[in-house]
Amino acid sequence: YVGPFVFSESSTELDVCPHGAIGVATTGTISFIDRDVPAELNNADGARWKAEKGTEWEDARMLVAEEGEFFFPGFVDTHIHASQYPNAGIFGKSTLMDWLDTYTFPLEASFADLATARRVYARVVARTLAHGTTTAAYHATIHVAATNLLADICVERGQRALVGRVCMDTLSPEYYRDESVEAAVRDSRACIAHVRQLDPRGELVTPVITPRFAPSCTTPCLRALGELHQETGAWCQTHISENAGEMAMVRELFPDSADYASVYDEAGLLTPKTILAHAVHLSEAERKLVKRRKAKVSHCPASNTALTSGCARVRELWDAGITVGLGTDVSGGYSASVLEAARQAIMVSRHVAMTEGDGAKLSTEEVLYLATRGGAKVVGLEDKIGAFKVGMQWDAQLVGLGEVAKGEEGKIGEDGPVDVFGWEQWEERVAKWLYNGDDRNTKAVWVKGRLVHYRPEMEHRN
Ligand code: GUN
Ligand code: ZN
Repeated sequence: YVGPFVFSESSTELDVCPHGAIGVATTGTISFIDRDVPAELNNADGARWKAEKGTEWEDARMLVAEEGEFFFPGFVDTHIHASQYPNAGIFGKSTLMDWLDTYTFPLEASFADLATARRVYARVVARTLAHGTTTAAYHATIHVAATNLLADICVERGQRALVGRVCMDTLSPEYYRDESVEAAVRDSRACIAHVRQLDPRGELVTPVITPRFAPSCTTPCLRALGELHQETGAWCQTHISENAGEMAMVRELFPDSADYASVYDEAGLLTPKTILAHAVHLSEAERKLVKRRKAKVSHCPASNTALTSGCARVRELWDAGITVGLGTDVSGGYSASVLEAARQAIMVSRHVAMTEGDGAKLSTEEVLYLATRGGAKVVGLEDKIGAFKVGMQWDAQLVGLGEVAKGEEGKIGEDGPVDVFGWEQWEERVAKWLYNGDDRNTKAVWVKGRLVHYRPEMEHRN
């Protein structure tokens, strides 16, 4: 009945609990955590243990991890363009602004067709769940029907999500832009209403106001969206200071604003419910402003390297007191995997360290914290998800690493890409997973207690 699990709670330390057991109530919340279950109860006399638990056991299921497996909090992807998924891995030699024109706008425009949207959105939700993403902050497109469909699919598949209809009323192609400020507001309202009607208590999906970024929105549009943010209480997500060309445009388009962050601030879009993607090149004054407004940052390392945008400094953001999570930023980022984003976060931090010193380096624990607890804070769900604690929701993944069987060393089986030889400490196993693992190691995924994905080889254990 019991197995080892690993979790991180209030600190960035991994909490390793090799003989623990977790109870999950039918409501989807964690009802008990036993840190030290007697070894003799392992896969044996569960009845006695259940009796000892008494009422705590009633109405709860106990989740099983077998030898070599551990539970880990589900990943939070704080920035992903669901509509761009078909282009994941396709970006040539572009940098941001020409990449938008060449690859991104034509693809997003195709979501006027609902059948196209259905095909892509069904796959991106299935794919991210398979990678252990239990919560995603999605940018959709400007289309109301397609954006609403994405929210429907999230609810159907059981993924927690923030779903945003993209607003862009200027400097965008004729074939793909909001025709007016009024249209941007009207269509944003329509999506907010749909998502709220779909999930009135916001238990799984919530709407998020999504001005694409300052260059593609006029000042009146940004202001109107700021008012909508205030009026509806819906979250806001956008991009900031990703790339030099983009920043030059912002300086030219908004000459009266002190800096990029002030453009959003002056429009009422920099609040505790704002997620800013990238933040690669923020000045010290901007970091102070973001901190003062309690806005959050989504660090997107794979994208920042792929589009040669730059190296964001997580340590610097943390030192400024800013809350940071991870984003895959598909398809500026090539992978929908948050584990890949965590791996890239650690590598980028080491590139920074080569010129700026060891202080910049992030650890295994720190990037996995960004992927879970940090992300939960970015989307305002830290009381519910991102760690294992009684009363929190069971948003989790069961991770399995393949142990090299004696006498079978030359044989590659179905165990996935991580080879464990048996001598590794738990922290070392987790590090091996971070550096070499992929979705083959994510054996099963739960959101709010519901099993939302499992690997084919898990069939017999359900
Ligand atoms: N800035 C404006 N739009 C986008 C986008 O779609 N992706 C990224 N990475 N940056 C942007
Ligand atoms: Zn983005």
